Amino acid sequence: MSKPVVLIAEELSPATVEALGPDFEIRRCNGADRAELLPAIADVDAILVRSATKVDAEALAAAQRLKVVARAGVGLDNVDVKAATQSGVMVVNAPTSNIVSAAELAVALMLAAARHVAPANAALKDGEWKRSKYTGIELYEKTVGIVGLGRIGVLVAQRLSAFGMKVIAYDPYVQAGRAAQMGVRLVTLDDLLAEADFMSVHLPKTPETLGLIGEEQLAKVKPNLVLVNAARGGIVDEHALYVALKEGRVAAAGVDVFASEPCTDSPLFEFENVVATPHLGASTDEAQEKAGIAVAKSVRLALSGELVPDA
Ligand code: MLT
Repeated sequence: MSKPVVLIAEELSPATVEALGPDFEIRRCNGADRAELLPAIADVDAILVRSATKVDAEALAAAQRLKVVARAGVGLDNVDVKAATQSGVMVVNAPTSNIVSAAELAVALMLAAARHVAPANAALKDGEWKRSKYTGIELYEKTVGIVGLGRIGVLVAQRLSAFGMKVIAYDPYVQAGRAAQMGVRLVTLDDLLAEADFMSVHLPKTPETLGLIGEEQLAKVKPNLVLVNAARGGIVDEHALYVALKEGRVAAAGVDVFASEPCTDSPLFEFENVVATPHLGASTDEAQEKAGIAVAKSVRLALSGELVPDA
């Protein structure tokens, strides 16, 4: 009898294949390339993706015997979950695999922006020893506003509390008492915008969160604001951020995610006070291993007709 076929459509940790074991035929393709993806998905039982592969209605329609879409990460915004469910295809993800890594990158971007790490590094390697030009600011005793106090937002809050920051958060789904237990004061978005010296966004991308931090919101922030988005591109409107930086209404930004990815040319790249990375939040050995193993286990269970527990 032939083995069920698992298509790995992106670079995943080697632990993924190990965790799948010998019971599957493993195929690979470049899922970001539609001309490769559409024929490759036609006759597989499961597909494993990160964020570059769009498993949309078209891809699902091309899949003749697909049973599982496995997202080796948290966000499901590159999978049409509704279309998958309608076609009887199960969607699984690894919701806790990379939360520590994502939180650590947000903190890294915040520190890098506050201390001009990227431009100082570039200048020094260019032969310039400029100390006063790159005078930064401390996080200590500043107020950080966390937008979205979910799994990652909480980890960021804990880490920044340890830096001696005052932590406030906006999250309509979290109760004030629960936040207070973590030493976090829940506020409205407007209050957060008015009070924050630093701000970090930790929301999923949904129709409600798209453009949540736009022109109107950036008009309300302090001019010393350091804004970090390591969640999803588009939650902070890139044009509005560009204008605010240009007009000096935002001091600096750390940007890991873009409205359209891959993004190798953004107007934001013109600013020395923007530190940018190519969607690296989940890109650690640890997170990739955890994500790969988690989705491999879910695929094994799903393809053998067993219940897939919520992670
Ligand atoms: C996530 O949603 O977990 C990340 O975007 C994962 C990734 O970068 O692959």
